Amino acid sequence: MKLTIIGSGKMGGAMAKRLLEAGKIGVNDLVITNRSGKIPQALSGIPGLVMGTDNRAACADSDYILLAVLPQQYEQVLSDVTASAREGACLISIAPGYSIARLTERTEGRFPVIRAMANTPAVIGEGMIAVCENPSVPEDKFREAKELLSVLGRTEVIREEQLNAVIGISGSAPAYFYVFLDALADAGVLGGLHRDQAIRFAEQTMLGCARLAVQGGEHPAVLRDMVCSPAGTTIEAVARLEAGGFRGTVIEAARAAMDKAANMGKK
Ligand SMILES: NC(=O)c1ccc[n+]([C@@H]2O[C@H](COP(=O)([O-])OP(=O)(O)OC[C@H]3O[C@@H](n4cnc5c(N)ncnc54)[C@H](OP(=O)(O)O)[C@@H]3O)[C@@H](O)[C@H]2O)c1
Repeated sequence: MKLTIIGSGKMGGAMAKRLLEAGKIGVNDLVITNRSGKIPQALSGIPGLVMGTDNRAACADSDYILLAVLPQQYEQVLSDVTASAREGACLISIAPGYSIARLTERTEGRFPVIRAMANTPAVIGEGMIAVCENPSVPEDKFREAKELLSVLGRTEVIREEQLNAVIGISGSAPAYFYVFLDALADAGVLGGLHRDQAIRFAEQTMLGCARLAVQGGEHPAVLRDMVCSPAGTTIEAVARLEAGGFRGTVIEAARAAMDKAANMGKK
């Protein structure tokens, strides 16, 4: 299998690195392009890695082409792919705003299109990856593309109309979690901890809570109740969060991301 990754930033770089590390692809079967032609830090020191700036040459011989550029760069890149990739090569897109229909139309219906969404924990293989159903993609191609994406983390197949919700609650959500983590660390400093100590306590708590939720499978409300003893310290804090509109603010924030993604698709 030959793979081209267009874009070597956070997502393209992570995908290349993790595929090579996992032995899912050999360095001779992978071509990566960016604008500068420079090997990014994440990929430095990999012997034999080919890096280019010519998207057309990079696509000509590929079975899979992953578009890992920002949506603003899509039009140029899609022209390059349409002009050079061979019929039947499979396109994988991880951008908001470009639906399967739009990508198919834009590439003159020449390629099966896989639409997916990742998030930044993908850099360490801990991402949450949504892959959209597309009955037009041959089953073996869909399976293979999903397997490629699984090096970035946990994958789940969804309907395309659910993708904007995924953008709101996992694609964009690392930023919300980091705002919360940083704020909690601030509170630790306020309470007398050193900054690095406060960050350590807050981040291990976040990690432990995520693991407990995933492994235990309990509803978040049950896990919250486990911490809230009657007339205790935690319920005081939870009451303050509710009074500050924390829950509503989180929902509205995620909805803003979903709306933005939906509007990008209308342009
Ligand atoms: N980061 C996230 O949290 C996240 C989450 C989910 C989905 N995504 C999606 O993943 C995609 C990639 O995002 P990213 O965060 O990896 O972006 P990024 O870090 O900004 O990287 C973009 C890459 O595209 C390259 N590029 C730009 N124009 C190009 C062109 N014409 N030909 C070839 N390469 C070109 C850039 O090369 P130079 O460096 O040489 O300019 C850079 O390597 C986006 O569609 C984004 O929406 C990102």
